[in-house]
Amino acid sequence: MASELIVNGHTYEVRAPVGASLAHVLREELGLTGTKIACNEGHCGACTVQIDGVPALSCITLAHAVRGEVTTIEGLRDHPLVDAFVKADAVQCGFCTPGQVVSAAALVAANPEPTSEEIRHHMAGNICRCGTYPRIEEAILHWRG
Ligand code: FES
Ligand code: FES
Repeated sequence: MASELIVNGHTYEVRAPVGASLAHVLREELGLTGTKIACNEGHCGACTVQIDGVPALSCITLAHAVRGEVTTIEGLRDHPLVDAFVKADAVQCGFCTPGQVVSAAALVAANPEPTSEEIRHHMAGNICRCGTYPRIEEAILHWRG
């Protein structure tokens, strides 16, 4: 079954079978491998993308059910948060980082000056096994440089 998916402003025809996850389609069909799959069960946030600006776990989102516009980390490559994460040294193994940046971008779009508490609340679904939480918080606090 084919359906259309708008990702980072481009329209794609998706040929994956019904039941395929958005994360799978992004990575395996569209070649957008910046979106990571870790738990594949909706627990860790590594696969976070935005759908119409709202963070969504793409590993538990059915590709054919998506109706809004998808933004992945590739679509945010010029976002100031990317530099902010580097400056704050908020990346260790880096596996969680795309999901962290995608989540954080949604936060600062809605609330450009979030407090530490707001950051922690918003980012609670993004797990970092390397424990870089204080640096992630620092990056988001100073995302505009
Ligand atoms: S890979 Fe999707 S939440 Fe963990
Ligand atoms: S930097 Fe390694 S899991 Fe977050």
